[in-house]
Amino acid sequence: MNGNVIVGQSGGPTAVINSSLAGVFKTAKDRGANKVYGMCHGIKGLLDRKFIDLSDKLDSTMAIDLLKRTPSSYLGSCRYKLPEIKDSKETYDKIFQILNELEIKYFFYIGGNDSMDTIKKLSDYAIVSGSDIKFMGVPKTIDNDLAITDHTPGYGSAAKFIAATMKEIIRDGLVYDYPSVTVVEIMGRNAGWLTAAAALAKSDDCEGVDLIYLPEKPFDIDRFMVRVKDLAAKGKSLVIAVSEGIKVSDGRYVFELDNHVEMIDAFGHKQMSGTAKFLSNKIASELGLKSRAIELSTLQRCAAHMSSRTDITEAYNVGGAAVKAAFEGETGKVVVLKRVSDDPYMCITETGDVHKIANVEKKVPLEWITDDDYVTDELVHYIRPLIQAELSPIMIDGLPRHLKV
Ligand code: F6P
Repeated sequence: MNGNVIVGQSGGPTAVINSSLAGVFKTAKDRGANKVYGMCHGIKGLLDRKFIDLSDKLDSTMAIDLLKRTPSSYLGSCRYKLPEIKDSKETYDKIFQILNELEIKYFFYIGGNDSMDTIKKLSDYAIVSGSDIKFMGVPKTIDNDLAITDHTPGYGSAAKFIAATMKEIIRDGLVYDYPSVTVVEIMGRNAGWLTAAAALAKSDDCEGVDLIYLPEKPFDIDRFMVRVKDLAAKGKSLVIAVSEGIKVSDGRYVFELDNHVEMIDAFGHKQMSGTAKFLSNKIASELGLKSRAIELSTLQRCAAHMSSRTDITEAYNVGGAAVKAAFEGETGKVVVLKRVSDDPYMCITETGDVHKIANVEKKVPLEWITDDDYVTDELVHYIRPLIQAELSPIMIDGLPRHLKV
């Protein structure tokens, strides 16, 4: 191959997003790339000419091994929406000028559905401007809401953390001889895939969470309170999983029913927080039950010590597959995972058109959500293979070691 490579990370991080970075870097190098640059803070940083030569950092097998085990986005991230091409040709001219100065021929962007908007616009612009740079998306998001792909790298590790944490919270709830209610808030925005992973806690050593609320169905607060009251009346301590994105029937998010500070990102997403606190306060004040709110918040996306090895491996593979496809001439595509077998679980990589993935949110099918506020076995069966196996952290002085930024 001729020319250099550049790679960036964008959107919310995951525990395994750096495994995809490792996959891009190693595969590009093995296939003869000269320089592999990393954008600092994604396309936003590139516009400010902020990038590094990754060969200086990833100069040993140990560094690459540590990178795979390091959570959050090693290169830094951004939530930056490129303008429409027709509205700001100069932005695109600037980006392509920087890419040409660096002799870039292959551009990789590791991100979710918002970040794929960047690949869509840049690959479209390359066509109209006659550039031969290849643009390829590498999927990631804990939300698992990307279209076409069976699932997204990052989801399996977050799901594993959530299910394991739920088992521990359920155990903690059994400790006293009177009922209490713990409401656990889980990320995922408008898709309930992550919250559904709470169902995996149920096993022969754990009775599982009591109620699960996904954003795909309107949330009925009165009905919720009745369900909590009835279950608690049996003398049982309850653990309830709620998605950060549940909404009441008039379209307001539950967290908006309480005092909150409105923060909106470049893609128009509200920062979601406070759903569990609101519900827990309501339970305590109206039902007189001891109640706690736990917001898993960023813990669920940076818990590299609880990663799924299946997830780490797939994250690495999608990075490698993106390089292979781009080096073979593909552009304007995103690598997707296709499940070819459930037992034994097996996924292969393919590429999908970025226009069908950018800005599209894939939701949990309604038939996988039950009327008694839980999820079906089919959904559990879909998630379970994704949390399998572990990759031990490299422990130094009693703590997991990460690659220093
Ligand atoms: O998109 C991934 C995600 O972790 C969502 O689940 C969450 O709502 C959002 O990012 C939070 O974004 P930020 O870290 O930018 O506040």
